[in-house]
Amino acid sequence: MVELVLPNDANTMGNVLGGRVLHWIDLAAAIVAHRHSRTEAVTASMDEVSFLGPIRVGQLAVIAARMTFVGRSSMEIRVDVQSEDLLSGERRQTSTAYLTFVAVDKAGQPTEVPPLLYETEEEKREARAAACGGAVPAALDKLEKTSSRSRRRMGQPGWSCYTRRPS
Ligand SMILES: CC(C)(COP(=O)(O)OP(=O)(O)OC[C@H]1O[C@@H](n2cnc3c(N)ncnc32)[C@H](O)[C@@H]1OP(=O)(O)O)[C@@H](O)C(=O)NCCC(=O)NCCS
Repeated sequence: MVELVLPNDANTMGNVLGGRVLHWIDLAAAIVAHRHSRTEAVTASMDEVSFLGPIRVGQLAVIAARMTFVGRSSMEIRVDVQSEDLLSGERRQTSTAYLTFVAVDKAGQPTEVPPLLYETEEEKREARAAACGGAVPAALDKLEKTSSRSRRRMGQPGWSCYTRRPS
């Protein structure tokens, strides 16, 4: 998904508003969740998001989203945001976010989603990290920083919690 940053998207310094970026992140993740589940899906949570650099008026925000983990009804989606300068073509990573969407039926109740097929080692590693809440056992003291969804996942059987979520 690509957005051209216009003055209405920006603060008084000419940088995109954080809330606008969060909206785009949510939209990109929602599209991935809907395409995978082919049901209604709602945002259940979003992990901590940092804004590493500005995206200026007249630049592009390039938003890439992919699914990293599927539970029974929940789906974790990673979203990467980059700025792209239209004149130089230079791209810079500005944000990474992990969101959890839950597939729901017409009554708004969680409903099962198809499994996710992991093809590469990187995908498997990321899924293990998601299943373990992004924490390694030695870092359990940092668990307060993980989402409630992530905390719930810590006890999930079938996953070895030894890998750290990639940065
Ligand atoms: C998300 C929602 C459907 C979950 O309903 P619920 O009755 O709590 O569901 P359950 O406890 O049975 O959990 C269902 C799944 O959601 C996950 N989940 C529930 N709350 C979550 C949260 N805060 N963060 C991440 N995942 C969550 C559970 O881990 C479970 O995953 P699994 O099926 O893969 O094992 C419900 O809380 C809701 O409708 N929230 C509002 C969503 C919303 O309006 N979003 C903004 C606008 S789209």
